[in-house]
Amino acid sequence: MNNPLLDAALKARDHAHAPYSKFHVGAALEDTDGRIHTGCNVENASYGLTNCAERTAAFKAVSEGARKFRRIAVAADTSPLTPPCGACRQVLWEICGDIEIILVNLKGESESLRLQDLFPRPFHAKFL
Ligand code: THU
Repeated sequence: MNNPLLDAALKARDHAHAPYSKFHVGAALEDTDGRIHTGCNVENASYGLTNCAERTAAFKAVSEGARKFRRIAVAADTSPLTPPCGACRQVLWEICGDIEIILVNLKGESESLRLQDLFPRPFHAKFL
């Protein structure tokens, strides 16, 4: 694919633990230092404890000390392209703000979006 961020998301997808849905997702989150933090979906037999690829990448990044982010790529084997779920939009907003979100599939189709457009009226810390 020759785009390091999209390649990283596609590669992360190979690690998906999705025995229940069989729906494999990968994510690659780039911080402002240029580091790429990857994640895949990790399902659980109790279903509700499943972690999506985007949140795995975001939580890994924060736990490794990253605090500012540029963009995230999300890879799945679908056409039309798979966007982040609502829970991931909320978490990405809090951790990353209005970043670019690049969706990609195994055919190499891709689309760039802004989180603000996908999640226009977020709940955030100022409401607390
Ligand atoms: N999933 C993700 O990892 N990211 C998305 O953007 C959509 C959904 C996962 C959660 C679950 O393991 C499987 O895909 C089916 O919902």
